[in-house]
Amino acid sequence: SGYITLDEGYGNTGSCRSAITYIDGDQGILRYRGIPIEELAEKSSFIEVAWLVIFGTLPSKADRDRFSDLLSEHSALPTGMLKHFEGFPPSAHPMAILSAMINAQSAYEPGLMQIDDDASLEVAAARLMSKVRTIAAASYKSSVGQPIMHPRYDMRYVENFLHMMFTVPNRPYEPAPEVAKALNLFLLLHADHEQNCSTSTVRMVASSQANMFASCAAGVCALWGPLHGGANVAVIEMLEFIKESGMPVSEYMEKVKDKDSRLRLMGFGHRVYKNFDPRSKILKKAADDMLEQMDVDDPLLHIALEVEAAALADDYFVERKLYPNVDFYSGIILRAIGIPVDMFTVMFAMGRMPGWIANWKEIHDDPKSRIYRPRQIYTGPVDQHWVPRDER
Ligand code: CMC
Repeated sequence: SGYITLDEGYGNTGSCRSAITYIDGDQGILRYRGIPIEELAEKSSFIEVAWLVIFGTLPSKADRDRFSDLLSEHSALPTGMLKHFEGFPPSAHPMAILSAMINAQSAYEPGLMQIDDDASLEVAAARLMSKVRTIAAASYKSSVGQPIMHPRYDMRYVENFLHMMFTVPNRPYEPAPEVAKALNLFLLLHADHEQNCSTSTVRMVASSQANMFASCAAGVCALWGPLHGGANVAVIEMLEFIKESGMPVSEYMEKVKDKDSRLRLMGFGHRVYKNFDPRSKILKKAADDMLEQMDVDDPLLHIALEVEAAALADDYFVERKLYPNVDFYSGIILRAIGIPVDMFTVMFAMGRMPGWIANWKEIHDDPKSRIYRPRQIYTGPVDQHWVPRDER
């Protein structure tokens, strides 16, 4: 009834009020709770930023210590959860495992529906972030047929994840400081990004008053696709294709510009940024520094630099304001850390968890929150009747 405004892809529809992340897409500005991403990238850590994003202020030392303790305390999975891993086929995609297991974890959360103050939310958030890290590493271990590694209570968040990913029986893995630092930065830069597809999905599910775990499991599914979080995989596949085929970058760019090819330059373009994505600038420098420190020469980085230069000098990309986004250089860093390509989007999900939790909290805390229920313009037939089967 009444007049409905159609806005395909919600390009110009505000779905909520939010005090978490500020973006100015024309200027290339990103701030979490008002603090510039560049400052946080230089001075902060993923866990500190997670607390900032969820609770709105930088944590005091006591907050930080308490949150770290909660993350350690809740890192192990219940035995029943561990059994689920045996049911997945070895070829299962880690994103399928991650979303299923986050949802399954709701069945093991006793106080799930009683999040009524910041203290209970802090416990729930720590449980979710901590379990997600363990599930992520376990999904990798089960996909390569290796035993699942238990978390170590003496290790911090990022180091503990690297241990669970890369330790094999009788061969402990001690992450190099530059590796832990790079992963910390990767996660921090993914912590939130206002109303993207997955975060809006989390809010959509949360608006029906579904629990935090179920809402975030839905976010994982939305993140999976190649136009969103799956782009970090697609970028590496694209760079590898260029390398393996020997196709000149200029020829690849021509193919992208030909609309019939339906190819896109992966890691380029953004709904909101019509300028450099500030995260891509930070990641480009970090990738460069890390490869130098590790004395690694990754041919994909050279191809990426060539693609970027070609796009910035090409009218097609300039006119449409298509610049490198967060996914363009992140894969180079994850490769250098040793993360396999099909885990890249899982890493994005781990990083985005604080943002999803914070957005879930905004809906949960708002007494005026309304269920999300968009309208549609109906385009089907309106006057039809049922026909007996033998007359169809
Ligand atoms: N390569 C080539 N052409 C492009 C690209 C690209 N990557 N992105 C947009 N265009 C063109 C598009 O064909 C259209 O051209 P025209 O006006 O002639 O029809 C114009 O630019 C506008 O594109 P759009 O599809 O309306 O833009 P959108 O805001 O709906 O889509 C996007 C945004 C990020 C999905 C898109 O730019 C894209 O597909 N990029 C590649 C995938 C990617 O890197 N995704 C990661 C996004 S950032 C992190 C995240 O959200 O996970």
